Amino acid sequence: MPLLEVSHLSISLQTPRGRALAVRGLDFILERGATLGLIGESGCGKSLTALALMGLLPAHAQVSGSIRLGGEELLGMDERTLCRLRGNRMAMVFQEPMTALNPVHSIGRQVAEPLRLHLGLGERAARERALQLLERVGIRGAQQRYGDYPHQFSGGQRQRITIAMALACGPDLLIADEPTTALDVTVQRQILDLVQELVAEHSMALLLISHDLGVIARNVEQLLVMYGGTVVESGMTEAVFARRAHPYTRGLFAARPQLGASAAAGGRRPLPTIAGTVPELADLPAGCPFAGRCTFTQAQCMQQTPPAVTLDSARTPLPASLQAWAQPHVARCLSAQAMAAGGAA
Ligand SMILES: Nc1ncnc2c1ncn2[C@@H]1O[C@H](COP(=O)(O)OP(=O)(O)OP(=O)(O)O)[C@@H](O)[C@H]1O
Ligand SMILES: [Mg+2]
Repeated sequence: MPLLEVSHLSISLQTPRGRALAVRGLDFILERGATLGLIGESGCGKSLTALALMGLLPAHAQVSGSIRLGGEELLGMDERTLCRLRGNRMAMVFQEPMTALNPVHSIGRQVAEPLRLHLGLGERAARERALQLLERVGIRGAQQRYGDYPHQFSGGQRQRITIAMALACGPDLLIADEPTTALDVTVQRQILDLVQELVAEHSMALLLISHDLGVIARNVEQLLVMYGGTVVESGMTEAVFARRAHPYTRGLFAARPQLGASAAAGGRRPLPTIAGTVPELADLPAGCPFAGRCTFTQAQCMQQTPPAVTLDSARTPLPASLQAWAQPHVARCLSAQAMAAGGAA
């Protein structure tokens, strides 16, 4: 049984123009110890998906489908049971550490709290374990800094502290929603390396949300490309990166900044962008959500969700270590076969 099984997950929200679907029929599986990335433009539904998994959606959200953790259905679960799972079996690291840390409590107390709450440790045992965790995530002099408050730490250190909190009870699933976008590039790398080490050390499954292709390439084995609340392409990272079978994935790749590319073109080449902007939820077409911005749009694309096309991944064989949980390469586009056959643009 997979650790996490999400089927037909849809989330509708109350917007100023009435109810609208923000996540539309998401399906994915995450095995124990596997790593999965969620990538897509701002507003495509990445954070809502993460919040749905944690049971933290806003009260006006309506959710349908199924989210199973270790076979247990999370949708419709009562708040007390969910509370017991949160932090214990699944934990989340947020983009901005200050939103996760309480400014009026010492960091030691905040790391120790889940240990007392979920594992029932006494004060001394919780303190000892919290110190070990703080040291493990790289807080130097943890003993002396145990009573310090969040504002006495740098952004990178604060994120290390929230990671220690998330790890405290040894969750099976770690969700990291843009965990490093508020940090500078060097610290970003260190934090992601730390997450990788800890995920491997504890055989956790990782769901990493990022809009950065480089971060996804380095840190996850599989990915879901999201647009307008829909997964438009998914598969093993290497296969998707090599073949890019959806026009939106191609757009994302074309729009990534590349060091030296402009200089090579005489300094005048502007960074390519995806034409148009992400439509408001209420304006998404009935068919493919990307249809309004896509140069390959056909009449059918506007009316019907394109069927999932499974692509032959034989051209990008996987290392043996990944074969146990290899996911097929799938794209929801009428032109997927042609795109994939064209190779990387
Ligand atoms: N609490 C809310 N109330 C109303 N609409 C919301 C709420 N939270 C999110 N939305 C809307 O749902 C859609 C998806 O939002 P979500 O936060 O999941 O995007 P995202 O992919 O995480 O974007 P980003 O990369 O900017 O974090 C957006 O259109 C957003 O405006
Ligand atoms: Mg988000």
